[in-house]
Amino acid sequence: MNPPLAILASPVHWLPAEASRSAGEVDALFLGLVALSVLLVVVLAGLNLTFILRYRKGSKAARPPLRIASWKLETLWISTTTVIFLGIFAWGAPHYIAAARPPATTYDIHVTARQWMWDIRQPNGRREFNSIHVPSGRAVRLIMESEDVIHSFYVPSFRLKQDVVPGKQVTLWFEPTKPGTYHLFCAEFCGTQHAAMGGSVIVQSPADYEAWLQRGDAAIDTVARGRRLFTLHGCAGCHAAESRFHAPQLEGIYGRQVPLDDGRFVIANEQYLRDAVLDPQREIAAGYEPVMPSYRGQLNEADLLDLLAYLRSLADAPLPPPEMPPAVHPQP
Ligand code: CUA
Repeated sequence: MNPPLAILASPVHWLPAEASRSAGEVDALFLGLVALSVLLVVVLAGLNLTFILRYRKGSKAARPPLRIASWKLETLWISTTTVIFLGIFAWGAPHYIAAARPPATTYDIHVTARQWMWDIRQPNGRREFNSIHVPSGRAVRLIMESEDVIHSFYVPSFRLKQDVVPGKQVTLWFEPTKPGTYHLFCAEFCGTQHAAMGGSVIVQSPADYEAWLQRGDAAIDTVARGRRLFTLHGCAGCHAAESRFHAPQLEGIYGRQVPLDDGRFVIANEQYLRDAVLDPQREIAAGYEPVMPSYRGQLNEADLLDLLAYLRSLADAPLPPPEMPPAVHPQP
């Protein structure tokens, strides 16, 4: 049997396997919408056909004047359809919100998209290309960046798709439920090799995943690499405790609140630190001169991830002794 007929003959395969916690909900919503659409088509087409035949030119069907006020009919169909569509909204919105909000603790994996590959960084630094291993039964969060154009991370079996937009960190979370290998696609036209920018998501039991993670020599010490980059690019020249230049000390800054010179407070999370490196003039820490140069173009995505891993590793370092930030303008 040729493939399209095989699909028709086995209704089970109309959709790819459901392999994430939310896949069933998405399918239910999708099938609900299809059923509603089919119902509407059948009712409208049926009425249409009936009236065409019944009231065709020359037929003997009775044509008495309308006995119900037309505003009543209008009110009826407008209120009915409004209730139906608001009902669909009430059904879908919680799923959308749940998909946008990851749980408090997630298992984070970094994904870099570039023409034309998916570059994956596991939490221990192990790298893989165009395949991504994840443990089943855990809330996995992908922290994604693009180095060039818009790509889109799409796993049909998870019923998930997320655009990866350059200059912006985007996240996607899911809970894989079934060990297996699933297709990964790029779902945004991103250049000549777009169609080839695919791969697989390999879901393993937590024990198998852990064994895979520790195997091989692929794991690298990201913190050590980050520390080296910190010195190599001269960050330490200003940010080290003993530096004679005045720049915020970075020990313990990760995850803490930082006062800005415009009076706001921000949490020094990954996004903040990333912006501080690439676009330092955007948010200036209170009490400091806006003198830091941008490192955009000097650090590639892998370097940036290592640098952030290093800063994160300093999160538990003791805070520098409390001090009032010195005046921004030196005294004459
Ligand atoms: Cu990347 Cu299409």
